Amino acid sequence: MQSSNGKAFQLFCLLLFVIVLFVNQLFCIEARANSSLNLRVTGSALPVEATFKFPSPLPVIPQDGERNFGKGKIDLEGLEVIQVSISASTSQRIWRTFENGPDNKGVSIFQPINLPNGFSTLGFYAQPNNRMLFGWVLVAKDLSGNSLRQPLDYIQVGNTNSLPVKQDGPAFFWQPLCPNGYEAVGLFVTTSPQKPPQESISCVGSHLTEQSEADTWVWKLEGIISFSSLKPVNRGTEATGVYTGTFTFQQQNFPPPSLSCLKNRKFYLSNMPSQDQLRPLFQTYSPFIYFHPEEEFLPSSIDWFFSNGALLYQKGNESNPVHVQPNGSNLPQGGSDDDSYWLDYPADKNAREKVKRGDLKNTKVYLHIKPMFGGTFTDIVVWIFSPFNGDARLKILFVKSLSLGDVGEHIGDWEHVTLRISNFNGELWRVYFSEHSGGSLVEACDLEFQNGNKPVVYSSLHGHAMFSRAGLVLQGQDGNGLRNDMARSDKLLDAGVGYEVVAGPGIREPPWVNYFRKWGPIIRYDVEKSIDGIAKTLPAVLRKRFRELVHSIPPEVLQEMGPTGPKVKRSWSADE
Ligand SMILES: *[C@@H]1O[C@H](CO)[C@@H](O)[C@H](O)[C@H]1NC(C)=O
Ligand SMILES: *[C@@H]1O[C@H](CO)[C@@H](O)[C@H](O)[C@H]1NC(C)=O
Ligand SMILES: *[C@@H]1O[C@H](CO)[C@@H](O)[C@H](O)[C@H]1NC(C)=O
Repeated sequence: MQSSNGKAFQLFCLLLFVIVLFVNQLFCIEARANSSLNLRVTGSALPVEATFKFPSPLPVIPQDGERNFGKGKIDLEGLEVIQVSISASTSQRIWRTFENGPDNKGVSIFQPINLPNGFSTLGFYAQPNNRMLFGWVLVAKDLSGNSLRQPLDYIQVGNTNSLPVKQDGPAFFWQPLCPNGYEAVGLFVTTSPQKPPQESISCVGSHLTEQSEADTWVWKLEGIISFSSLKPVNRGTEATGVYTGTFTFQQQNFPPPSLSCLKNRKFYLSNMPSQDQLRPLFQTYSPFIYFHPEEEFLPSSIDWFFSNGALLYQKGNESNPVHVQPNGSNLPQGGSDDDSYWLDYPADKNAREKVKRGDLKNTKVYLHIKPMFGGTFTDIVVWIFSPFNGDARLKILFVKSLSLGDVGEHIGDWEHVTLRISNFNGELWRVYFSEHSGGSLVEACDLEFQNGNKPVVYSSLHGHAMFSRAGLVLQGQDGNGLRNDMARSDKLLDAGVGYEVVAGPGIREPPWVNYFRKWGPIIRYDVEKSIDGIAKTLPAVLRKRFRELVHSIPPEVLQEMGPTGPKVKRSWSADE
């Protein structure tokens, strides 16, 4: 009796549990429906809902009969392309999610619309929702008769049906299946499982395409799906691959879409700005570079550095250094960074101290003009020279700023920022900031501007690494690491005031550009010994942590060694 009663009770409990589950489920579905309804309303507050605008109008580029720069279209040889800036009038949002990705704000996908007569869509554009709408995609017109073809069919290469994220509804991703000799460079996206109409997107002749790879990721769900824009695999001043602006994605259990990028077969320099076009362009975007209020080691022009006693040493003849000519004409040319020569400060102590502090008032920046992405973009690399790089400093637990003394100091410091400008319309797209051994590429919509469209750049205290924001950036882990301190001050370099174009197509390079040895002495310096010395001054609890931290810092930051000049850096002819 007892046991049968118990069984009935158990059964009753189970039933109750199932009912609770079921009702709960019902409510969940309803709640979900309502929450997505609400999201659709709050969605209008996402940054991506507004289109980014530069603070001032874009530069008026003087026309040049010989040049194609700023004319809006580029012929890649039988395929004319134009750059469609994504905005409310040129595009239609097809799909979005509301979570994950940068700032957990999701991603949106846009289709270019209202194309000029004769132009075809090559793919769609995707960007994170945490920034204003700012991007572009190329669309193309067949001039030769064999550059574009309709796809034969579409294959579904993924969908968002079962993704556990808040979204507008499912999206379906379609790869065009191209005829022989043609390639897809982008995807089509629909919100229903029906295939897109055949002519929705065009395939591009294989002779006009190159291999592509993922650029920065745009959105991802760890281990499930990730979206990214596409960039050419081969990039650099000689490379022909064209950044197309389309996106791709990778979804677990689906094969990755096979997508190419465009190629400029007519890659010659007529798409690049002429000297007369470069001037208004650089005046528009020349950066404002702020040094930290406590910065003692400021930049100088090269002729100032040479005229103020810089010495050229030769290996094996160290007792007979010679003065560098103000125009650098006696610097050894070419060769390699083989330590057979180096530069150093004047021997006189006062002269040395003067040179170390630079000459901010009369300084100059040096420009290197690089064709990028098959000559569809121009990189204006802005090089800044500081005669001295101060000591590295660490933040370690409760010690806010610990100087590493001599460690990290060196003579002759080269840093750069790069403006990446469209040759279609003269618009600034991205800026690269060099930061010790690496750097970061920042979209124009995420920059701080001053005096119109001039990007603000912050140079870190002593190390002169370049950042797009003021504040503290620690290179390390768990709130400890190498300090990069950036702040506004009256120590300001307006790059548009003093600059010189020193390299690029048709530019005669001054002798210092082809001086490939070090800009400071090589001191065989015992970093370990200095580190030991500093460790001894620390409380015992900090010592182990201190050593670990120091050893996690890139070695080039710690060496007291003059770096080589701009032309010896890998980025001189490569992408950043
Ligand atoms: C969902 O919204 C509808 C209409 O606004 C409302 O009648 C219903 O009670 C809501 N359901 C829940 C679970 O909030
Ligand atoms: C050492 O340098 C001096 C000054 O430039 C030069 O006159 C001399 O020939 C050099 N000696 C050797 C061995 O290269
Ligand atoms: C550099 O300056 C020296 C004298 O200061 C002069 O003799 C030489 O011609 C100059 N060279 C160039 C390339 O201007």
